[in-house]
Amino acid sequence: MALVTGGSRGIGAATAVRLAREGADVALTYVNGKEAAQDVVRAVEALGRRAVAHRADGGDAAEATGAVERAAEALGGLDVLVNNAGVGVLGPLESLSLADVDRVLAVNVRGVFLASQAAAARMTEGGRIITIGSCMAQRVPGPGGTLYATSKAALIGLTKALARELGGRGITANIVHPGPIDTDMNPADGPYAAGQAAMTALGRFGTAEEVASMVAHLATTSYVTGAEFSIDGGHAA
Ligand SMILES: NC(=O)c1ccc[n+]([C@@H]2O[C@H](COP(=O)([O-])OP(=O)(O)OC[C@H]3O[C@@H](n4cnc5c(N)ncnc54)[C@H](OP(=O)(O)O)[C@@H]3O)[C@@H](O)[C@H]2O)c1
Repeated sequence: MALVTGGSRGIGAATAVRLAREGADVALTYVNGKEAAQDVVRAVEALGRRAVAHRADGGDAAEATGAVERAAEALGGLDVLVNNAGVGVLGPLESLSLADVDRVLAVNVRGVFLASQAAAARMTEGGRIITIGSCMAQRVPGPGGTLYATSKAALIGLTKALARELGGRGITANIVHPGPIDTDMNPADGPYAAGQAAMTALGRFGTAEEVASMVAHLATTSYVTGAEFSIDGGHAA
């Protein structure tokens, strides 16, 4: 039984389907993409697993916590939390407003903290918390990333601390750092795509499915916790 936040598109949608293929029933959250979320629900059901989609904005504290409660209720428990929902606001330091700072930290950090806290309260031995960070938390290749990198770097501390906090209960916490991945957030044919691809060792964008395969591995392995995994085509190399 797994919850994928932001599971209606991109990395989250691919992860929801991949976890279902591995045998999980899946809950997912979305904000605007109700139709897209229903498509993912149908894709999971086509694999013979149960699926539910709930609207929950990770930037709203009550909704971030409530999404975990609703998922556990609908599925009958929770074994895996994938903290995927995230927003990116990039731009020069002086252009970032207080509202930008509050919104990005609310969705990318506070929402992840609260969802992890709520999930930990419900998980039993074997529980898995997997957070989607970013290659920008490891190496910022140019200007414009102050706010986004701040938010994603905070998740490294959260992950390591969760690993220590929950290890005694047999619950693991790990973080995955995608490089440039072809999604709506960062299309492989976007204006900055060529430069990003050139910064990887493999010279290309990754796919949402490639990230999902790493998440699926962490969902099923038991002696890995507090660890960071780059899935970035060599962006950090
Ligand atoms: N793509 C990349 O190159 C890349 C690289 C490194 C890290 N990441 C990280 O990977 C994660 C997924 O990115 P993606 O590229 O798949 O993004 P995406 O294509 O923009 O999809 C974002 C997903 O998150 C949902 N979402 C957005 N804001 C939300 C909120 N406040 N609360 C709950 N759900 C929300 C969206 O739902 P709606 O459609 O309903 O709005 C959608 O399902 C993010 O944490 C991102 O920072 C991406």
